[in-house]
Amino acid sequence: MTEEALRAHDVRKVYRGRRGAGVEALRGVSLAFRKGERIALLGRNGAGKTTFLRIASTLLVPTSGTVTAFGYDVVETPERVRPLIAVVPQEGKPFFHLTPREQVYCYLRARGFSREVAQARTEESLANMGLEDVADRLSVTLSGGQKQRAMVATVLATEAPLMFLDEPTIGLDPFARRAVWDVLRELTRKGSTVLLTTHYLDEAEALSERLYIVEEGRILFEGTADRAKRQIGGTLRVSIENGGNHRDLFTSFGQAVAEGTALHVITEPERVHEVMDVALRNRLSATVGPVTLEEAFLTIVGRSIDAE
Ligand SMILES: Nc1ncnc2c1ncn2[C@@H]1O[C@H](COP(=O)(O)OP(=O)(O)OP(=O)(O)O)[C@@H](O)[C@H]1O
Ligand SMILES: [Mg+2]
Repeated sequence: MTEEALRAHDVRKVYRGRRGAGVEALRGVSLAFRKGERIALLGRNGAGKTTFLRIASTLLVPTSGTVTAFGYDVVETPERVRPLIAVVPQEGKPFFHLTPREQVYCYLRARGFSREVAQARTEESLANMGLEDVADRLSVTLSGGQKQRAMVATVLATEAPLMFLDEPTIGLDPFARRAVWDVLRELTRKGSTVLLTTHYLDEAEALSERLYIVEEGRILFEGTADRAKRQIGGTLRVSIENGGNHRDLFTSFGQAVAEGTALHVITEPERVHEVMDVALRNRLSATVGPVTLEEAFLTIVGRSIDAE
């Protein structure tokens, strides 16, 4: 096993249908994670995130390119890779006719854990996901969020060295989302590596040390959330009420984005007072706040859409 948890080199995937030219879902993805990292894949619907996760987790064969997990090739030696990974699939559902307690326990036993370890991990994982009260109800009777928690509890209980989570917190309430984050942080502290996808950009920021933005099967950005924000030309946003009609006054300070009648100017901290001065002199009210990852994402992906 290598210290490198995952390495992908020039991965391409074309889905061939019965007719037509096929869908190019991945067009040359290369990336690498160290052991213990938490990485988020971000991208619009259809960008290729699930396709990549399915390839990396041995569920789908790439059209070309290679992926290794801990040095083992996922296509050549899937039997070596599978014991090292665990997957929360997008839209996965627990077995309807098992209870969460049975499901977590059975899964751990199937993966080779002893009775004692499986039992202890099951209780811990159910508690971590706040499932104690419903642990003995058939999953078919659980609410949507409870079902999702049962899926996450099942997979995280494995403490696998490499975990793939495809939108693990979809449909979870804000408390349950934070419970998932806590467990993921704890698992990476113990040495697991986590690759997750999410459309919640606050989650990507709170949780991941590094992120990749995928667009149309290519990696558009790789780095920290802070770097994504700096890349769009500033770290602060001045929002100017009714600034939309005065755009020309502000374009020299940085990127100016209209939203309704408001204008958001993305700029560096050193220039904020100048922006505020101009706003005040023109009797426009303005507020200052941090640039969010969502704004960075919209700008980075938006530029690439415009470029086409
Ligand atoms: N089995 C399949 N056959 C044909 N095309 C597919 C198949 N699975 C996915 N695709 C297509 O491949 C592209 C990438 O899909 P993928 O599911 O990887 O996107 P995603 O980034 O996970 O999107 P989302 O955020 O909606 O989950 C899309 O255009 C999708 O329609
Ligand atoms: Mg997906």
